[in-house]
Formats: sequence, structure tokens, C-alpha cells
Amino acid sequence: MSDLSKLPPHFTWGVATAAYQIEGAAAEDGRKPSIWDTFSRVPGAVDNGDTGDVACDHYHRWPEDVELMRRLGVDAYRFSVAWPRVVPDGTGQVNPAGLAFYDRLVDALLAAEIRPLVTLYHWDLPQALQDRGGWPERATAEAFAEYAGLVASRLGDRVSDWVTVNEPLCVSWIGHLEGKMAPGDRDLTRAIATSHHVLLGHGLATAAIRASSPRPASVGIVLNPSPCEPASDRPEDVAAAVRADGHVNRWWLDPLYGRGYPADMIETYGVEPPVRPGDLECIATPTDFLGLNYYFRQVIVDDPEGPVPFARQIPVPGAVHTAMDWEVHPAGLEELLVSVHEKYAPNRIMVTESGSAWHDELTPEGTVEDKERTAHLEQHLEACAAAAARGVPIDGYFVWSLLDNFEWAYGYDKRFGLVHVDYPTQRRTMKASGLRYAELIREHQRLVGTPESSAPAV
Ligand code: FCB
Repeated sequence: MSDLSKLPPHFTWGVATAAYQIEGAAAEDGRKPSIWDTFSRVPGAVDNGDTGDVACDHYHRWPEDVELMRRLGVDAYRFSVAWPRVVPDGTGQVNPAGLAFYDRLVDALLAAEIRPLVTLYHWDLPQALQDRGGWPERATAEAFAEYAGLVASRLGDRVSDWVTVNEPLCVSWIGHLEGKMAPGDRDLTRAIATSHHVLLGHGLATAAIRASSPRPASVGIVLNPSPCEPASDRPEDVAAAVRADGHVNRWWLDPLYGRGYPADMIETYGVEPPVRPGDLECIATPTDFLGLNYYFRQVIVDDPEGPVPFARQIPVPGAVHTAMDWEVHPAGLEELLVSVHEKYAPNRIMVTESGSAWHDELTPEGTVEDKERTAHLEQHLEACAAAAARGVPIDGYFVWSLLDNFEWAYGYDKRFGLVHVDYPTQRRTMKASGLRYAELIREHQRLVGTPESSAPAV
């Protein structure tokens, strides 16, 4: 790679995971079920009937996983706290054993000079809260802020970097409209209410984290926007791409950056979000950074008979697709970074997830020669460097994922890790892409002259 020098000297190199996808120990030390424990047991909901019961057994193997990150040479680790481990019923009684797990993990990370970036909600809502209505209910946003404040008061003496919510789009549209993720609901009114309460929860949690953390906290939200392009210049497709952009991007970014919900989308949905006085101000509470997860662009055709927003993504002929059937399109990352910067001007942007699934195989020599993942990684880092050169304040990149893990409705077949996991033995093997990532990190440090241990906070 030629242009790593365009990335800023203080660039944060990281890897990311999420609790339900790696921890396992689903019923241990007082953890109670989340909506994913329930959903993964619905026949047909998850490929092969997989669940997160054991996952990568990270709950027990975390010292080995911290050691893997040390070998990679990353500056930071983005992981999530499981709400049902810490406050098993969602509100009320705190579970000290659950908190103690994250205490140990944070201490071990700091000892390895890896900064924690903690996500508070990566989709594992306590089932007890779902039983009381879940995200369509406003009380869930309030419960979330209470839990966020609790975690910040306990870990905030050592953790300074926080993500409130991961991908509100998936929680709302995939979980409550399309029904393909927990809790598997399919109702537009409840999906719209969810979107509002998740954003409100983010705003309330931002204030709670800042108020409860013993030291200054840097707080952001993680979105998963996609560039949306019309498949043709037919006026119908052009208009459909505007609606898709509204559904996927503007519905989240506009209220977060003080513009309220886009009027054209309220009209398209025919449903108003349940906004009360003061909510929009709360959602637009200034944050310290914006996290972007990028996987693919969307090429859009008009779909008047389809579901909202009456716009459909179509495959791009001839393009390279990952094992998820997602188009590899690194130029979309550069475009996204530039357009979010130009339209919303967040003070800092981090790519909080980027990565790809491929059909990896362990060779008889015990290596994984994942050339496609390595190329994907290099191309997406080049896109970041190109965006930085165009003035985007991008200062971090987190590979999804450290480990192969439970890929939600796709189960364990889809492998995203820099490290291969053999599930029957739980054996970890660094893939060629992981070795390459370690090299790129060192190369950047050499280019910009950062002594390896002096990188600033995330
Ligand atoms: C993102 C999720 C993450 C992972 C990747 C592949 O949408 O945040 O947990 O599943 O996709």
C-alpha cells in the first residue's frame, strides 16, 4: 500500500467484536436471556439453528484473545457490554459478577496497552424488557440510559471512549420491520417507534455517561450508512434512490445533527415518530465522534409494489461479492466519508467496522491464506487514506472482526475474523489477513514516526 502516510499520525488501528457474537457463557454468573437467546431458538430464524450459547467462548478465553490483539499490534479494541449480564432484568438489580467480567477485561487490555472502546448496545436487549414491550416503548430508552450510566460509573475510571448504540437501522428496520433479526417483529408503526426510542436512548445515554463517568468521556454513536445510487437515469429510479437514502442514511443522520426527521420520509412511511417536546434536542446532543460501519453500497430501482420505502437494491452484474453476497466496493467508503463530512461535519469520524466474510479453509500446514480478505482490507484502508487526503477528519479504523463469530441470522458459517476459530476445539489461528494487518499498522507507525506506545486516546 502506497498511501498510508495520508492517514493522520494519531490514527487509531483497531479490531471490533460484539458480546453476543463471541462471549458464549449465556447462562453463567447470573446472565439472563436477551432477545437474541430467544430469537435464535425460533425454528428457521438462524441458519443451521445456531445460537450464541457457546460462540467463541470468549467469556473464558479472553486472556488468549487479548494476547492475539497484542500480537496484531492494535491500538484499540471495540467490544460491547452485554446488558443482560450486567442488569439481567433490564432495570433494577445489578449483577456484580457480570460487571466484574468487564472489569477484568478492561484491566487486561490496559496492561497490554490496548485502549477499550466500549459499545453499550450491540443488539442484546434483555428479554425481560422485550416482555414489557421492548424498543417500541419509550421506557426502554430510559432503562438504557440508566444502564449506560451504571456501566460508565463502574468502568469510566479506565475507559474514556464509548459508543451508545450500534446501528439503529438494524435494530429498527431489520429487527422490527423485516423481522430478520431479533426480536423478529414486522410492523411499520412499531419499527418507527423503535427508531425514535433508540435515537432517544442514545441521547439520554450520552448525558448519563458524561454525568456518571469519573473521568472525561468521549461519546459517539455508530451508524451503518450506504451510498444509494439509482440503477438508471429513469426519473422513477432517481426518486427511489432518494427514498432509499432517506431510509438508510438521512432518517438517522438528520435528527442526530439537529435537523429533525426528514419530512419526505414521514410522508413515504405515512407514520409519524412518537416525538415528545425536548426529544429532538436530546437526540441532537453534540457527540465527540461519529462511528461509521461500512460494508456495501446500494444500487436502487423503483419498487412501487414493494415494502417501504418502495425502493429495491439490485445486484451489480460482474462485481466481486463476498460470502455474504455483498458487493466489494471500496470506492463507496471514500464517497460515504466525504459525503457525511460535507453534509453533517462531525468533528471526528472513525470507521468502527469494515471487513468481509469468505469461505476460509485451514490448510494442512495450519494456515489460512485468505487473499480476498487481505485485498479487501488494503482496498478499504486505501479508501480511508483517500478520504483523509480530501480533508475528512477520519482518525480510526476497526476491522470487523477480531475473530470468526456468530454472524446473527447467518450463524457460524459466515467467517469475518482476522483470526480463524475452529469451533469444536475453540482453537484460534491467525489468518494471513491478520498478519498483513499487523504489518500495515507497523508500516504506518514507521511512516508517521509514532512510537508504538504513545498513541493518544481513541
Ligand atoms: C454489522 C454488525 C456486526 C457484524 C457485521 C458483519 O452490521 O454491527 O455485528 O455482524 O455487520
